[in-house]
Amino acid sequence: MNPPDILSPREAVRHIDPYVPPTGERSGGLRLDFNENTVGCSPLVLESLRAALDASTLSMYPAYGEARQELARFFCVPPGELLLTNGTDEAIQVVVNTYVADRDEVVLLRPSYAMYRFYCQGAGAAVREVAYRLPDLAFPLEELLRTIGPSTRAVLIANPNNPTGTGLELDGIEELLKAAAHAAVLIDEAYFEFCGVTTLPLLSRYPNLFVSRTFSKAYGLAALRVGCLFSRPENIACLQRVQSPYSVNALAAAAACAATRDRTYLREYVAEVLRARDLLCRGLDALRIPYFPSRANFVLMDVGPRARDLRDRLREQGVLVRDRSYELPGCLRVTAGSEAQMSCFIARLKSLW
Ligand SMILES: Cc1ncc(COP(=O)(O)O)c(C=O)c1O
Repeated sequence: MNPPDILSPREAVRHIDPYVPPTGERSGGLRLDFNENTVGCSPLVLESLRAALDASTLSMYPAYGEARQELARFFCVPPGELLLTNGTDEAIQVVVNTYVADRDEVVLLRPSYAMYRFYCQGAGAAVREVAYRLPDLAFPLEELLRTIGPSTRAVLIANPNNPTGTGLELDGIEELLKAAAHAAVLIDEAYFEFCGVTTLPLLSRYPNLFVSRTFSKAYGLAALRVGCLFSRPENIACLQRVQSPYSVNALAAAAACAATRDRTYLREYVAEVLRARDLLCRGLDALRIPYFPSRANFVLMDVGPRARDLRDRLREQGVLVRDRSYELPGCLRVTAGSEAQMSCFIARLKSLW
């Protein structure tokens, strides 16, 4: 008997640009490549995980009632407006799977977070992209408003954006919400803690608004995969129809709650990152390396044609940064960690410059 042929995936799956994360060992060095928290989460989170770690908890499917109540209080929304998600990535997937069908039009920005495109392509959507403005990578609001049309089903935006670090103010977002009143508008606030602009207060006025937050960045819980998606209760009920009922594990839910209880940790970490980002920018100024002013915990710098080589040489010295030159020629993205880490980074960069 002949061996069976390899199965052919759906057509949309054949067209997904695969997400290829940088490979190789990441622990041990100076990790400035994923915009993670670079010093580790609050000790209260570790305590809560140790307390939750017993055989009985592990044997039960997770229940989210209490976590939902507590997180809703923290984010100042009614519990019915909040959905726990397996990181922002699941929030994006759930929004796309709820509102976007095969060949539906979705509007994205370029460059932006790669997973928007990934999930839209997987759903078979027709993706239209609007480019950030050169030379300063400012938010292209007019171009975006021109692109949104009656057949647009979803608009997915990171505010502030990755990798540009640039952001949009609330009045611009309101214009967008009005222009796309018939479409799902997701505002991904993964870097909110570093910038302070949030659309959460707009939820009651815009039934097409979806807002995501993550515990992967400022809170330092990237490994646990937990985030929140907010929208009107009627929308949350629709999103729940496509979400796996147990996609957030019990320890991740407990850790997210514990993380929100340590406000001092969060305040101090964010303040440290903002000082470190200034230090990083001053170091780049001193080396005459151009960069884009950022509202997040990273800075995109333009090191010119040597970008990849510089990335590799930094890696040899145990410093990881992210190459973005494939979409923004000459650009590397550097996460702002602590001030000590930035001094170390600048010293290494100077030695190679
Ligand atoms: C804009 C943006 N959204 C979401 C994420 C990922 O978030 P999560 O870890 O919650 O899936 C990232 C990570 O780099 C990001 O840059």
